[in-house]
Formats: sequence, C-alpha cells, structure tokens
Amino acid sequence: MSCLDVGCGGGSVTLDLARLVGPNGRVVGMDFDAVKLDLAKQHAADKHVDNVFFVEADVTELEDINTYDFVYARFLLSNLKEPDVMLAKMAAALKAKGVLVIEDVDYRGHFSYPQNDAFDRYVELYQQLGSKHGTNPNIGCEIPLMMADAGLIDVEMLLADLVFDKGDGKTTSKITLDSIAKAVIKDGLATKAEMTRLGEELDKFVKSKRTLMSMPRIFQVWGTKVKVK
Ligand SMILES: C[S@@+](CC[C@H](N)C(=O)[O-])C[C@H]1O[C@@H](n2cnc3c(N)ncnc32)[C@H](O)[C@@H]1O
Repeated sequence: MSCLDVGCGGGSVTLDLARLVGPNGRVVGMDFDAVKLDLAKQHAADKHVDNVFFVEADVTELEDINTYDFVYARFLLSNLKEPDVMLAKMAAALKAKGVLVIEDVDYRGHFSYPQNDAFDRYVELYQQLGSKHGTNPNIGCEIPLMMADAGLIDVEMLLADLVFDKGDGKTTSKITLDSIAKAVIKDGLATKAEMTRLGEELDKFVKSKRTLMSMPRIFQVWGTKVKVK
C-alpha cells in the first residue's frame, strides 16, 4: 500500500502510517519546512522505520496523478488560501478506489471551563487573523462537502473533542497565543499591552487545577475515489 502524508510536519502521523502499512507498504511525508523534516527523519531513524520517505516540497505544487492508495492531511487545509484546490490535487493523486482522509479544525468548537474572557478573546483573535490572511480556522465542517465536490464518494466523518485538565494538551492554547502575537499586533487586531495581559491571564487559567481546556474541535473526514481522471 502506498501512502502520502501532505504537510506532514514533524512526521508523527507519517510514522504511524508507516507502522500500519508494514514492510510491504511505503509512506511519503511531504512538507516545505526543512527543520521539521529533519526532525521527522531523525525520529524515523531512531525508531528504525525504513519504509518512510520525506520530501521537501511546496504541497500546493503537488502534481502526482493516480499514484497513492491512501492520501492524508492533518491541520493543513486550515492554513491554505485555496484549500479546495489542494483537496482536488490530493484526490487526483489517489488511485481509483483509493481513500482520502483529512483531519482539520473548527475553532468554533474550542472551549474552556469555566468560561474565561482571555481564552474567548484568544479564540476570537485567532479567527480574525485567519480571515485577514485568507485562511479558515473553522474549515473542519466544510471538508465533507469539499470532498463530495472533488468527486469522492462514501464521504463520512467523525468529530473529536479533546479536553484536558493538565499536561501538554492544556498548554496548547497559550503556546498558540504566543505564536500569533507578533502577527496580531502587526495587523492591528490587538495592542502589545493587550497581548501581554491575555498571555498572563491564560497562563494563570491553564495552571489552575480547577479548569478545563479543549483543543479546537477536530473534523475527521474520509472518502473514496471512484475513477481516475
Ligand atoms: C499545523 S502543521 C501540521 C503538521 C502535521 N500534519 C501534523 O498534524 O502533525 C501544518 C504543516 O503544514 C506545512 N505546510 C503548510 N503549507 C505548506 C505548503 N504550501 N507546502 C508544504 N507544507 C506546508 C507546515 O510546514 C506544517 O508543517
């Protein structure tokens, strides 16, 4: 079985796929971030996985046709300006009867307990930044229709709502807030003073033992290709 992980990043899912397809299978991970790919290669070497190959490339230029049995992308389409074009290219890269699986976010399903003003403002700013840059942090719910429009059949979905009371999962929102701060300030969506205050409040909220923090809701969608174009 041949698989492609589009926008594979550090390769955590790529390596899982390689294990699942076994020694007779082959998995390609593609990303344009050389630093992440080096990490992915190192993990593959550490784990003695030799049926995985990492390619440095801009995935929007994917031109493979009728090549893979399985094509996968996680948290990629929400970062692209033309996600429908990318999805059509991923469908084209599949062989007939091949399966496309996409996992992506819907920030409207990102929540804290109890309600917290700093957290709500972070979610709002993340969505505003996406709109301003032509990307869609709420793309998850659009993926089933995008797959159908790309000609895939038997499209089905599951929703994953991950919630944490401690650990790395709980700190993700604070890390994401820090990573968007520069762009938010540059785009005039918030002042430096507000971002500093949000960071402090969110940090306090995350560290409390009496709070819960979710990840953005994740749509997991899959469909099958009927014929080769
Ligand atoms: C949020 S990360 C997700 C990584 C991985 N799929 C995962 O779930 O762990 C998005 C990845 O897409 C990659 N990416 C975004 N646009 C890309 C493009 N045009 N070409 C190649 N990689 C791209 C980024 O470098 C990043 O590694």
